[in-house]
Amino acid sequence: MRKSKILGVGHCVPDRIVTNDDLSKMMDTNNEWIVERTGIHTRHWFTPGKDTITSLSKKATEVALERANLSAKDIDFIVFATITPDYFIPGNGVLLQRELDFENIGALDIRNACSGFIYALSIADQFIKTGMYDRVLVVGAEIQSSALDKSDDGRSSSVIFADGAGAVVLGPSTSENSGILSTHLHSQGQYAEELYCKDPGSSREVRLSPELIESGSFFLKMNGNAVFKHAVVRFMEVIQEALDYNKLDKSDIDLLIPHQANLRISQYIQQKLELPDEKVFNNIMHMGNTTAATIPIAMSEAWEQGKINEGDLICLAAFGSGFTWASALLRW
Ligand code: COA
Repeated sequence: MRKSKILGVGHCVPDRIVTNDDLSKMMDTNNEWIVERTGIHTRHWFTPGKDTITSLSKKATEVALERANLSAKDIDFIVFATITPDYFIPGNGVLLQRELDFENIGALDIRNACSGFIYALSIADQFIKTGMYDRVLVVGAEIQSSALDKSDDGRSSSVIFADGAGAVVLGPSTSENSGILSTHLHSQGQYAEELYCKDPGSSREVRLSPELIESGSFFLKMNGNAVFKHAVVRFMEVIQEALDYNKLDKSDIDLLIPHQANLRISQYIQQKLELPDEKVFNNIMHMGNTTAATIPIAMSEAWEQGKINEGDLICLAAFGSGFTWASALLRW
């Protein structure tokens, strides 16, 4: 069966940079606490009226297409991972479809939060492996900053999350030795409420009301300790699963690109895998946690910095809301 391969990767983040000092003017926090607990120094937040999920993902897609030496007309299908779409209905895949010169191709939205990009990549991979499509665009994009409680009540999560978009173009590999080797997807819904956004939910008589806004139930809520404890276990499990499946060893990894949840989580995984600094790519320091967009943004930056080369074994891994977790191993 043919393999799929990443042909081009791009990203786009809003211009507005928010520092930890900026946050300390909105809530009771400080630079030292944020850097020590999360590793984040700055992040990008959108500008209302200027940036949208569609505009950010359009720019990321244009870069990915250019690097793949392809045009929108060459794309057969769109898989779009976001939990913060521009509209409640329809999904963001179709909004992107109308922005560029795509044919009337299918567009699918994926709502798997921080694992969303790897889930989306896995779906695109199956389409290419079976021969149904030749070139699939995979996007991860989020505007989280408008879902954050920027008062003292929300300070443990609002210092972490950020905005941005990343995109990859996937196509058939021309060599047996390169491409996506495997993807591994998991969930455990019993922890859904440990990291979630309750409203606007459809099981209320009215989805939006002044009372609901007053209650703050539309803000992202996170039990940071629970997320941390589960993340460090599941990241390791799902990376090991990918290595075992491909009969590879942790020492074979050339570059680990973990979902940028929190620098301490990445450092824990790095230590457990005994990987040197140059084999782990982190950019949470200046990007924050952009949920489904962290991995394609990091991959795009790593590629720009010459840290991804032909033949490299790249490991992607993510954990987040659901809980869901996932990994992908690919030979560049
Ligand atoms: N600034 C200053 N103090 C803060 C703060 C902030 N932004 N947020 C919380 N605090 C305070 C708490 O109120 C608490 O104070 P207290 O001891 O007086 O009660 C103290 O810091 C410790 O709070 P706690 O929530 O136990 O901190 P923590 O060490 O667990 O760190 C997280 C909080 C969120 C950074 C940490 O739990 C974490 O990294 N979790 C994983 C989150 C993650 O990766 N999410 C993304 C998933 S994809």
